[in-house]
Amino acid sequence: MRVLITGAHGQVGHELVRLTPAGFTAIALGSAELDISTPDQVASILGELQPQLIINAAAYTAVDKAESDSERAYAVNAKGAENLATAAAKLGIPLLHISTDYVFSGDANSPYKETDPTNPTGVYGASKLAGEQAVANHCAQHIIMRTSWVFGAHGNNFVKTMLRLAQTRDELGVVADQHGCPTSAASIAKALWALASQYRSDGSLNWGTYHFSNTPATTWHGFAEEIFQQAVALEQLAKAPKVNPINTVDYPTPARRPAWSVMDCSLIEEKLNIAQNDWRDELSEVLKQLAV
Ligand SMILES: NC(=O)c1ccc[n+]([C@@H]2O[C@H](COP(=O)([O-])OP(=O)(O)OC[C@H]3O[C@@H](n4cnc5c(N)ncnc54)[C@H](OP(=O)(O)O)[C@@H]3O)[C@@H](O)[C@H]2O)c1
Repeated sequence: MRVLITGAHGQVGHELVRLTPAGFTAIALGSAELDISTPDQVASILGELQPQLIINAAAYTAVDKAESDSERAYAVNAKGAENLATAAAKLGIPLLHISTDYVFSGDANSPYKETDPTNPTGVYGASKLAGEQAVANHCAQHIIMRTSWVFGAHGNNFVKTMLRLAQTRDELGVVADQHGCPTSAASIAKALWALASQYRSDGSLNWGTYHFSNTPATTWHGFAEEIFQQAVALEQLAKAPKVNPINTVDYPTPARRPAWSVMDCSLIEEKLNIAQNDWRDELSEVLKQLAV
């Protein structure tokens, strides 16, 4: 089965390509080969390549920059998603699309379900929500997978930032009042390929919107402590810096971060047989990859 992967050089895109299972051919296109915000390019490239399924890993992910660059954020996250959905529907093929916990306000205190009302607080989340709506409206055969706190060996993320800071600091302050679930790019890629495999064998899927993250919930502070503990155990760091808990108000950013990002991932297990894995095991894999 020929699967088009957009945003193929991003964190998740990279893992999708790396983990392509036997029996699938990944057509991996970065933004230079396919700019999803350009409808003519999307239509002509898809018409030429004739994929049998699309996985959209392309997105404008610069959360803070989006606040002052909303036109571009919407062009990629909303219009880009719509362009792919329209082209997929025209070809009669499914679209697996990735979205985010930032579609929620973050004011809850129990895990978000797919049916909970959305209410993004920033441009990035709003543009991703518009993308979800476009996918659902234009392509009946769709999966929208909302995920959170993505990390991996490839690309920029919290794990790599912490490891870099640990080279020069004995002590650092990390936000301890935002709660969420770190999720490895590899686990997202494996879940998406499992869905592609189900579709290939059954000719269908339980289409719709699902939450998928690793488990258990933590804070950025808890995540940082685990990163340092594992990196010391693996002898990637000589000594763990002291991690001081700080509050969001002490670390102001242009975009407001949700205080609560934890999502209930039971629906994807029930309907699509995708189980959650422990982010601490995923982290250990990523640290080993970074060591080589
Ligand atoms: N990172 C997180 O913590 C996080 C959390 C929740 C959900 N998500 C979602 O997970 C998905 C994957 O995110 P990620 O972390 O892998 O992001 P990423 O590393 O920033 O990768 C996104 C990729 O999209 C590409 N892209 C940007 N504009 C494009 C365009 N117009 N056409 C085609 N490609 C374009 C980028 O290419 P260039 O670099 O060449 O522009 C980049 O390689 C996204 O849908 C994101 O919203 C991410």
